[in-house]
Amino acid sequence: TSPSRINIAIDGPAGAGKSTVARLVASTLHYIYIDTGAMYRTLTMKALEAGLTAEDAEQVTRLAERLDITLLPGPEGQRVLADGEDVTSHIRSLDVNRNVSHFAKIEGVRSRMAALQRLMAQQKGVVMDGRDIGTHVLPDAELKIFLTASPRVRAERRFQELGENPGVTLEELERDIAERDRLDEEREIAPLSRAPDARLVDSDGRTAQEVADEIVQWGQQIARTI
Ligand code: DC
Repeated sequence: TSPSRINIAIDGPAGAGKSTVARLVASTLHYIYIDTGAMYRTLTMKALEAGLTAEDAEQVTRLAERLDITLLPGPEGQRVLADGEDVTSHIRSLDVNRNVSHFAKIEGVRSRMAALQRLMAQQKGVVMDGRDIGTHVLPDAELKIFLTASPRVRAERRFQELGENPGVTLEELERDIAERDRLDEEREIAPLSRAPDARLVDSDGRTAQEVADEIVQWGQQIARTI
């Protein structure tokens, strides 16, 4: 008999390598990869475009409720559509980076995103990365990972992602990351935290492939026993 499909939750701070690892795990297992950070980023981009701030909780919540966010698998990675418009690179801008944690605090935004994410995971066979997946969105996920790395290594990875004209220094980036961690960890609703049953994985000094291979093995083991 073929193994059952399970859900895999991968949480952790910015730059720990979650999205790279999650994408590799999903492609090996032929699962669907869901980048929940991209969803919060898309909402943030749209809110900023509309001239809203995180203080405008009601209006931002209404925006979240009517915004259509589509995650599309593609040959060069996942594409993100907001109301049909491709916003894949736009949601990685410095402006979005610096604002997203503030918008992600809003209760109505979080409940809307969590509801969408649970729908996507209903059929099982998803690898979902974020901050609150193992603790809040999918507390019943069969495999939970909490992925970390040191702040310097995380800043270096984000720096690489920004390409030739990063527009910031590595030190500034490290400070931004530390600030985002603090906001994500200290927010009242669904903060970044390790679920008690999540396996702690440190990616310092390991390639994404090595980390992914380990997670795939655990996943296959679990899928055989349920
Ligand atoms: O993983 P990322 O850096 O793309 O996430 C962007 C922000 O979105 C992050 O700073 C906090 C927020 N986020 C969240 O609050 N809950 C999630 N499940 C995923 C992301």
